[in-house]
Amino acid sequence: THKKLRISEAFSSQLGANVTVQGWVRSARAQKVNVFLHVNDGSSLQSLQVVAGAELNDPLLTFGSAVEVSGILQESPHEKQPLELQADSIRVIGECDPVDFPFKVKKRHGLEYIRQFPHLRCRTNAFSSLLRIRSEATSAIHSYFKDNGFVQIHTPIITSNDCEGAGELFQVEPAGADEHFFSVPAFLTVSGQLHLEATAGAFSKVYTFGPTFRAENSQSRRHLAEFYMVEAEISFTQSMEDLTKVMEDMFRSATEHVLARCVEDVDLFHRHVTPGHRVFLSFVLLSSLRITYTEAVDILTRSSEQFAFPSDWGCDLKTEHEKYLVKHCGNVPVFVTDYPYDLKPFYARDNQDGPRHTAAAVDLLVPGVGELCGGSLREERLSVLRARLEQLGLEDAYSWYLDLRRFGSAPHGGFGLGFERYLQCLLGVDNIKDVIPFPRFSRSCLL
Ligand code: 4AD
Ligand code: MG
Repeated sequence: THKKLRISEAFSSQLGANVTVQGWVRSARAQKVNVFLHVNDGSSLQSLQVVAGAELNDPLLTFGSAVEVSGILQESPHEKQPLELQADSIRVIGECDPVDFPFKVKKRHGLEYIRQFPHLRCRTNAFSSLLRIRSEATSAIHSYFKDNGFVQIHTPIITSNDCEGAGELFQVEPAGADEHFFSVPAFLTVSGQLHLEATAGAFSKVYTFGPTFRAENSQSRRHLAEFYMVEAEISFTQSMEDLTKVMEDMFRSATEHVLARCVEDVDLFHRHVTPGHRVFLSFVLLSSLRITYTEAVDILTRSSEQFAFPSDWGCDLKTEHEKYLVKHCGNVPVFVTDYPYDLKPFYARDNQDGPRHTAAAVDLLVPGVGELCGGSLREERLSVLRARLEQLGLEDAYSWYLDLRRFGSAPHGGFGLGFERYLQCLLGVDNIKDVIPFPRFSRSCLL
């Protein structure tokens, strides 16, 4: 009798054990006496070497085919792996035409090539490593919040508000409907922030981590129409310093967790897919800087001739500006705080300062990616918030939001982190479409 094991489990099993594994052939080589296979089942980057007598050879044992192998674990003559499987039976479960299969044995296909095959690219080492890292990073982020006393809230995916006020909404209605299903127009969420604010008013520290949708038309390397956002909201937060500290802690703690748990996968990435990035990353984890928007604009104006977009006080920072600032600051993460009041959504806290009127908002900029997180202290003062909503003509739509300030309002703040941008930063991946299993962006909704 053979024990059915995942390949990662087989690697830590006793020599001499009788086991069955199932997986996909990563290489097949037949010699006169023996057949050698490498079988991978996604449980780890390592494939299990299978050795069989030539009588077990089958022409259908080709790269990509699905197989079940039973045999005995024995010591491997190769240094690189601790053991191999001496097979007494090999069954081809699903064949794979090696001519049509888009990936070839022993070839390192680039991320751009494999992106053409979203349904198959997880069969490559690079993309399967990426998805294992993504899965571990998800756990790392949940662990961070759990260990720090946050309550996870499932904020709704369908909502009637446009939290960011940017009008990048996807509307939700039943196919072919001629009246609103929910009586009011409803949309896919662009941010769970407002629902988090409501719950922060009871739990003090809350977070959410889920899909987020934006009808952005841009074909950039850092925007998707569907992405995952991590959002946190913390009551009794008095200062920007309190808020940036949580952002920094989460970034560090999650990164250290992933680097410790995904050694082989991260190593594959940093050696073969995005060489040189690891050294850079450990440097990034050492320190971060804090500058105000006004200081940032001073830095930019000194080199304004380099930019396509204006960098005067009052202008939003564009990608080119963000990249320049990060470089200027020595390629470490930079917090930019206190943006012009008029650039920020209604919820941002009014700093009530001079002619250069600012809000207590913050962006975290990181090397290679630019904006990784956006956050702010929220306007907790009823009269200030009401005046702003009235000015924007939003006081009726947000009467429930004003209630949060009428009934036990407390100073609070929060932020959102783009999970895909985090993975780009961690692994040095240039294009955001290469860090999500099935990317959705304008003019593309494959599968
Ligand atoms: O800066 P944003 O728009 O902030 C908010 O939505 C706040 N309501 C969050 C909060 O305070 N709770 O988005 C937050 C982050 C950005 O910094 C960016 O990393 C990511 O979400 N992001 C995107 N990632 C991929 N594709 C897009 N289209 C993105 N738009 C934003
Ligand atoms: Mg932003």
